[in-house]
Amino acid sequence: PTKIILDCDPGHDDAIALLLAHGNPQIELVAVTTVMGNQTLAKVTRNALSVARVAGITGVPFAAGCERPLVRQIETAPTIHGESGLDGPVLPEPSLELDHRHAVDLIIDTIMAHEPGEITLVPTGALTNIALAVRKEPRIVERVKQVVLMGGGYHVGNWSATAEFNIVIDPEAAHIVFNEKWPLTMIGLDLTHQALATPDVARRIAAVGTAPARFVGELLAFFAETYKDAQGFDYPPVHDPCAVAFVIDPSVITVRKAPLDVELAGTLTLGMTVADFRAPAPADCTTQVAVDLDHEKFWALIVDALERIGDP
Ligand code: BDR
Ligand code: CA
Repeated sequence: PTKIILDCDPGHDDAIALLLAHGNPQIELVAVTTVMGNQTLAKVTRNALSVARVAGITGVPFAAGCERPLVRQIETAPTIHGESGLDGPVLPEPSLELDHRHAVDLIIDTIMAHEPGEITLVPTGALTNIALAVRKEPRIVERVKQVVLMGGGYHVGNWSATAEFNIVIDPEAAHIVFNEKWPLTMIGLDLTHQALATPDVARRIAAVGTAPARFVGELLAFFAETYKDAQGFDYPPVHDPCAVAFVIDPSVITVRKAPLDVELAGTLTLGMTVADFRAPAPADCTTQVAVDLDHEKFWALIVDALERIGDP
């Protein structure tokens, strides 16, 4: 299996990413770290531990990271994720204890304790922890296998006309992460807006019939409402598990190589992820963007993970 660190801000879709990573046999979850974003650090960290309880995750270190962006003030997303950050289902009391380390140190320790090329970083929130980790221990850049992140978009924004939430809430952190020379795949909104939880998907998840599947059903029902009200979607786009799905099976997502950068100076375009599609990409280009999703294969992975998790 591929060893991953999931750096997240649960968050409805982060929670589903965590369930997918835990339930899929091709992934070994070696650490889970949290960062403020969808809600405050305290809330998203508690949510991560609650989801661990739902999924029956034990023996994996969970650590809390940054409680604010590098430069800017904290901005959360209650219009999408509610006051708790994970509104909808009843959240069970966590049973895991948090690791005593800061997330940045857990990320560095985990990468440096493994062989080069063993760890894949999967960030599904703001890139604050990852940016600090790379500044504190630059050797992680050559040591990780790849970074597969949910964030950005080359044609679409959601938090502004041109920028996506995870990037725009900490654009300086994103700038650091996008400019390091590690293989980086941006799973942006162009892709994740194809990962819609259609009624057919909801039925297939309900048919699994377990407590974790009911939990996901309740998450998706809440997410559907807020995405309809706040952003006019017929069905909610389930962003974050797309990054995990790409690690499991790259054939789920087609990608295109392109140099990427993050806008830090624009007044209308702050936090925009700019892809240079003037083909061909230069030989030393280490970045690529996600273009097309195989919707059927993607949701089959989620259903399969829930079936394997069963009733822990
Ligand atoms: C991203 O922002 C968050 O609200 C979601 O969890 C996802 O990571 C989508 O823009
Ligand atoms: Ca997220």
